[in-house]
Amino acid sequence: MTLRGGLGPPLTPEALREKSAESLVATIYVGRPGTPMPPWHRFLSEAEAEWIVAQLLAGFPTE
Ligand code: HEM
Repeated sequence: MTLRGGLGPPLTPEALREKSAESLVATIYVGRPGTPMPPWHRFLSEAEAEWIVAQLLAGFPTE
């Protein structure tokens, strides 16, 4: 909810700046095997995963 991390890493624009959009989309779509990050492909299309990454990289409005 805060995107500042907890079990997972922070998902703020600053934290994600060095990462490629493609790798972040893949992380959402197929998960990270061996970590608690689950795959979301059963619930999301790849286009929706791309949309989420675009929102994360742009940062959400503060209000
Ligand atoms: C739709 C919901 C979720 C989204 C959009 C999402 C997104 C992401 C993204 C983009 C990363 C990569 C961050 C990076 O490379 O710095 C990540 C990593 C991670 N996420 Fe998620 N996540 C979600 C739900 C969850 C849930 C439910 C869990 C655990 C219960 C989780 C646990 C983790 C963990 C542990 C990592 C780090 C994996 C590693 O060590 O490489 N995530 N998540």
